[in-house]
Amino acid sequence: MSLIAELTRLQAQHGSLREEDLRELAERLRVPLYRIQEVVSFYPEFRTTPAPRVQVSLCRDVCCLLAGGEAWGARLAALLARDEGVEVRPVSCLGRCDRAPAAMVNGVAVGGGPPEAIARLVSQPGPGLEDAVPAARPRWRIDPEGEGEPIVRSPADTIGALKASGLRGMGGAGFSTGLKWELVRKEAATPKYVICNANESEPGTFKDRVILESLPHLVVEGMCVAARAVGAERGWIFLRREYAHAVGPLEGALAQARGRGLLGGGFDIEIFLSPGDYILGEETALLEALEDRRGEPRNRPPYPVSRGLWGQPTLINNVETFAMVPVILRRGADWWKAQGIRGHQGLKVMAVSGEVERPGVYEIPLGTKVSELIEIAGGVRGKRRLKAFAPGGASSQFLPADKAEVEIDFASLQAAGSMLGSGALVVVAEGTDLLRVARNVVSFFRNESCGKCVPCRAGTQKVVQLLDEILSGKGDGRLLEVLPALEETLTQTSLCGLGQVALNPLTSVLGAWPEELSRHLAKGAAK
Ligand SMILES: Cc1cc2nc3c(=O)[nH]c(=O)nc-3n(C[C@H](O)[C@H](O)[C@H](O)COP(=O)(O)O)c2cc1C
Ligand code: SF4
Ligand code: FES
Repeated sequence: MSLIAELTRLQAQHGSLREEDLRELAERLRVPLYRIQEVVSFYPEFRTTPAPRVQVSLCRDVCCLLAGGEAWGARLAALLARDEGVEVRPVSCLGRCDRAPAAMVNGVAVGGGPPEAIARLVSQPGPGLEDAVPAARPRWRIDPEGEGEPIVRSPADTIGALKASGLRGMGGAGFSTGLKWELVRKEAATPKYVICNANESEPGTFKDRVILESLPHLVVEGMCVAARAVGAERGWIFLRREYAHAVGPLEGALAQARGRGLLGGGFDIEIFLSPGDYILGEETALLEALEDRRGEPRNRPPYPVSRGLWGQPTLINNVETFAMVPVILRRGADWWKAQGIRGHQGLKVMAVSGEVERPGVYEIPLGTKVSELIEIAGGVRGKRRLKAFAPGGASSQFLPADKAEVEIDFASLQAAGSMLGSGALVVVAEGTDLLRVARNVVSFFRNESCGKCVPCRAGTQKVVQLLDEILSGKGDGRLLEVLPALEETLTQTSLCGLGQVALNPLTSVLGAWPEELSRHLAKGAAK
């Protein structure tokens, strides 16, 4: 059993990691104690102090902020303050942005409801408290019924079809899926591995959660097809621990795949529950975690396609990317391309959150306008007017309402000054303070920085500090003086995408809504 799996088991057994257990583990695994301690101290999942009776995690990130999460969380914390067995802690996005303000009680998602109802659940945790997986499956175009025969295609044919479809990675970077599979296929070294990145943790993103709940069979089938195409013999689903409720559906899909002969003969898949946070979604940090080390990103190149897990060729794709594969191979690249509209090609699963009436996950043709998607999600909440939107989650630039006619697609959103990212539309209504929103987003990246690069670790903290001064009426123009140099440094010197994009949302707000900053500065000056 691996070190992280052993630590998880020990913690489940005793509630925390006790010094004597760590010493015993070091002897048994024949690893130095400091190696174990450096792993324990990196991952938020592990604790060395006794666990409370009930642990309540309150999301502090942008979609929950937009749903009044600050006051909601403060009220809940006040209601629970007298119960000594309850630990309340603010945490980053829980992947329940559609149920904002979101919280978890002993690892089970609650939220959206009144704080009093949640406080009652906390005082009597037990049966009533379980993460529901939707019983009825909505209809998805990527899951046409009656087409369940196993896909039998040669590797060259499979990769050719993916390339012809133009499918791009849905985890954020948008790299060509067919090309990535081909690169792994061409590597001579064996064994090879396939990993599904299900660590989804960026504020505004929760589409992978819904896919895992509703369409786990497509994810598993996509991985099986990938293994055959690239020649892999082992696979992992790297699942964020806040999605542990998806283990059941995934195990069901794995058993079904075994029954159909897709798994078991030369390729098998394990589920790995992530002990960490957002940074583990970065593909090389994910590999470090699977290799039982601190989840800090690696220098690239070499890329995982040639030297990934344990130095072997490794294919890493997002949940949605794998889920798209079966329908493309069954119905063909031309069918897939024809699903897009207005000259765009293919389908996309979008998470919609923030100030809309019906936050949720929507499968849309690429080419759908942002304004249309907002309407599909019930329109801006409370019949307010649209002020701004971020089309690709917390790491994407905010665009003003007059750009809402932009067609959702990688290239058009980039031309409009933002990005599709992993597909997470965050809607902000007229009347909302965008500088507070931007501060919240920068603080997410500050909180989630792994700390390996000084500019990312110190730069994000500096910007949060300057924004806090401004928002509390004590600021001056220093932010505008230091921001250009800080942004350039972070973009150019950060090892991974987190630091490279951390200031994007803020600079987009300051660029398109300069009055937001001047208003706060003027308020401070008038004090
Ligand atoms: C900080 C950070 C977090 C990331 N989180 C995720 C994630 O949760 N899920 C994901 O699929 N990709 C995530 N990515 C992108 C992955 O590194 C990688 O590009 C992706 O998993 C490749 O799959 P795709 O080609 O199917 O998109 C993240 C990247 C960065 C820089
Ligand atoms: S950019 Fe930030 S998150 Fe990425 S490796 Fe550097 S310190 Fe860590
Ligand atoms: S659950 Fe709060 S921002 Fe996602």
